[in-house]
Amino acid sequence: MANTRKIALHYLQHSSWSVLPAEDRELLELAAKAARNAYAPYSKFKVGAAIRMESGEIIPGSNQENASFPAGICAERTALHAAMTVLPKGEVESIAIVVPQVKGSKPVTPCGICRQALVEQERRQKGPMRLLMGIVKGPVIETFSAETLLPLSFDSSQLGRKPR
Ligand code: THU
Repeated sequence: MANTRKIALHYLQHSSWSVLPAEDRELLELAAKAARNAYAPYSKFKVGAAIRMESGEIIPGSNQENASFPAGICAERTALHAAMTVLPKGEVESIAIVVPQVKGSKPVTPCGICRQALVEQERRQKGPMRLLMGIVKGPVIETFSAETLLPLSFDSSQLGRKPR
C-alpha cells in the first residue's frame, strides 16, 4: 500500500524590485552588475549572483565558461565558493540571481547542481538562506530556503557519515 504525501512549495512572487526593501534591491543590482563580468562566449547567457552574508559582507559571482563545456561554472556556485573561501564559518543570509538579458515575467532559477550546492550550504550553516531571483526592475521570486527548490534532496546523512 502506498501513502500519498504532498510537499507544499511556499514562495513570494513580487511584482517588481520597487516593492522590496532597499537591501534586497541593492543585492539584485549587484547581481546584475556581476553579470557584466560573466565569461559566456559559448552560451552568450550572462548570469550574475550576489551573496549577502549574515555579517553583512557582499560577495558577487558570475558564470565562467570553458571550451571544455563541463568545466564551466554557474554564477551561483562561483559566488558561493568565493564566499566560503573568504568566510569559511560565515552564513549566507541571501543570494540574488539576475540574468539582465532575460525580459518578461519568469526570472531565471538555479540549475539542479547549484540547488544541490546551496542546500549543502544550508546544512553546513544550520539555517536557511533566502533566494531572490529577478528580472531587471521587474518580477522577483523569493524563496525562504534553498531546500524549497530541492525537496527530498540527497545529503550527507545518506552517505551514513557527517561532513567533518
Ligand atoms: N547558468 C548560471 O550561471 N546560472 C543559472 O542559474 C543557470 C545557468 C549558466 C551556465 C552556463 O554558463 C549558461 O548559464 C547557460 O546555461
